[in-house]
Amino acid sequence: MIDRAAVEAVLDGIPDPKSGRGLVSAGLVQGLVVGEDRAGFAMEVPAAEAALYAPVRDAAEAALKAMPGMARVSVVLSAEAAPDRPRRTAGLSPAAQDQTRAKAPVPTDRPAHVRRVIAVASGKGGVGKSTVATNLAVALAHAGWRAGLLDADVYGPSTPTMLGIAGKPAYEDGTMVPAEAWGITAMSVGLLTGASDAMVWRGPMASQALTQMLTQTRWGTEAAPLDVLVVDMPPGTGDVALTLIQKTPLDGAVIVSTPQEVALADARRAHALFARVGTPVLGLVENMSGEVFGRGGARREAERLGVPVLGELPLDAALREGGDAGRPLMASDPDSEAGQVFATIAAEVARALGLDQAGSTTTAVP
Ligand SMILES: Nc1ncnc2c1ncn2[C@@H]1O[C@H](COP(=O)(O)OP(=O)(O)O)[C@@H](O)[C@H]1O
Ligand SMILES: [Mg+2]
Repeated sequence: MIDRAAVEAVLDGIPDPKSGRGLVSAGLVQGLVVGEDRAGFAMEVPAAEAALYAPVRDAAEAALKAMPGMARVSVVLSAEAAPDRPRRTAGLSPAAQDQTRAKAPVPTDRPAHVRRVIAVASGKGGVGKSTVATNLAVALAHAGWRAGLLDADVYGPSTPTMLGIAGKPAYEDGTMVPAEAWGITAMSVGLLTGASDAMVWRGPMASQALTQMLTQTRWGTEAAPLDVLVVDMPPGTGDVALTLIQKTPLDGAVIVSTPQEVALADARRAHALFARVGTPVLGLVENMSGEVFGRGGARREAERLGVPVLGELPLDAALREGGDAGRPLMASDPDSEAGQVFATIAAEVARALGLDQAGSTTTAVP
């Protein structure tokens, strides 16, 4: 049974971009209906402000959907025909991107002291998303950036295995202390629950766990902010992925795909999802490129989508063995063929995120 007061409290926690007050206090919540397992309301705004409020509607929907026991949510923005939220594109200069960002409404789930957040995503599982996310984070650390890895695959966390980490994170002053390995910091639901627990979570709980790991982990401090947080996304374009994408102010996305046509079709869907919420796709990574699956499929696809190919990773048993052993190849053998591809991807990502221009931090390479 959903509590009406709880619904109002959740909605009041979302700021009205114009007045800065909560949505309920600002009078934006009209005709609120709260049922046994559902809630809905309307937000009437002048047509000229529809674009400004579209992300607010999305944030409200996502926040309500994340409430325990909530099965259906409907938030109607009265000027629905108006343009979607403004798109940011990878082609913009960092300064222009910052300007665009400054005008956008306050994001609901921006983690503190984190300069850039990127997602590593794919339409389907098993294409090497976690392998790429993990080695990319380590490669960024090798390049001198403070890098973190958030394992957002709450249904099949793989970061503990791939980094060789275990044990519950410590709590300090209400925040979780991330694990440290191979020069990066990391957080995974696998650390919170124990890797062997079956993940039979319903959508809202999974989304909530994710939000908590994102915002309640001490990724950085004011004196030493994290340069990049790499989010290893759950596969597909389902509930959890969508909630995370909508609630997290992502600065970019890397899409992983194998050369096969099916996987590419999935990559196209992932690209469309990010385009819908205005997250710039930094590029495609073709994984398991080579004799078995073919080569170059991602390049044709990237051209069609108008995004760069960040790298083509060979099928390499050492990559899988490193993942199974908890020692990423990028840490054990950065000079290998795959290691060099990861270094290139990291450099490309850092450039696209404008990391070189803003701030300068260096971490000791392990
Ligand atoms: N380039 C590669 N060469 C060899 N094995 C790989 C490669 N990329 C991924 N793998 C292996 O394929 C399996 C699936 O990869 P994973 O990164 O877990 O995919 P996802 O996160 O997309 O489900 C893992 O066993 C991984 O070690
Ligand atoms: Mg994975």
